[in-house]
Amino acid sequence: MINIILLGPPGAGKGTQAKRLVEGRNMVQLSTGDMLREAKTSGSEMGLKVAAVMERGELVTDEIVIGLIREKLTGEAGGGFIFDGFPRTLKQADALAELMADLGQSLDAVIEMQVDDAALVARITGRYTCGDCGAVYHDQTRPTKVDGVCDDCGSGKMVRRADDNADALRTRLLEYYKKTSPLIGYYYAKGKLSSVDGLAEMDAVSAAISKVLDGAQ
Ligand code: AP5
Repeated sequence: MINIILLGPPGAGKGTQAKRLVEGRNMVQLSTGDMLREAKTSGSEMGLKVAAVMERGELVTDEIVIGLIREKLTGEAGGGFIFDGFPRTLKQADALAELMADLGQSLDAVIEMQVDDAALVARITGRYTCGDCGAVYHDQTRPTKVDGVCDDCGSGKMVRRADDNADALRTRLLEYYKKTSPLIGYYYAKGKLSSVDGLAEMDAVSAAISKVLDGAQ
């Protein structure tokens, strides 16, 4: 079992690679973005509270996301947890360390996915996902084989995120550089950080991540 964080700006490919690790290594993806979007769709009080914040591209409060992660950490861990989009602040990183210590678990690796900001606009504005199974596609780089039909589950329900537009992306990038990028130094100092080229072909990124995981086991 191995627990890892995928760290990188919006569009770096965290979700894409997390899904491959779920399939290939039976790991469990914990995406706070997905959890918050589910809360929004369910119409829960918390979901309604965070909807506008997410649409603007700002971070939701540390308390909310730490609470979401705390609930999941006691659940099924399979081959280990992949933290995707969490932690995003130093406070969240400290909370994760405490939660894991309480459960007798350890964080094995933090993988920084390095990308050029200019590439992110094209990635984000071309992205769509399957509304049923969450498979991630892209208009140019990874379209569905049959137009509008999910390759993985056959669903015809393709969705685009409300925050996948140029304005919200600008805010998401600012939030990343102000609040999340300090985690690169934080995990480097803890001896946990590895970096991979997130601009490489998807298979090459997967191979680089696998190499880190094999070295961390
Ligand atoms: P979240 O859902 O976490 O979004 P994000 O971090 O902005 O990341 P994305 O999901 O946009 O990108 P990704 O890196 O997963 O890229 P993907 O694989 O899809 O967060 C959304 C919001 O929720 C936040 O803004 C905030 O409001 C809130 N939130 C969430 N967590 C929070 C927290 N911890 N604290 C506070 N607030 C929080 O790839 C993108 C596209 O590129 C796809 O189309 C894909 O096909 C394509 N692609 C991927 N890899 C490659 C490749 N190697 N080559 C070519 N194309 C590729």
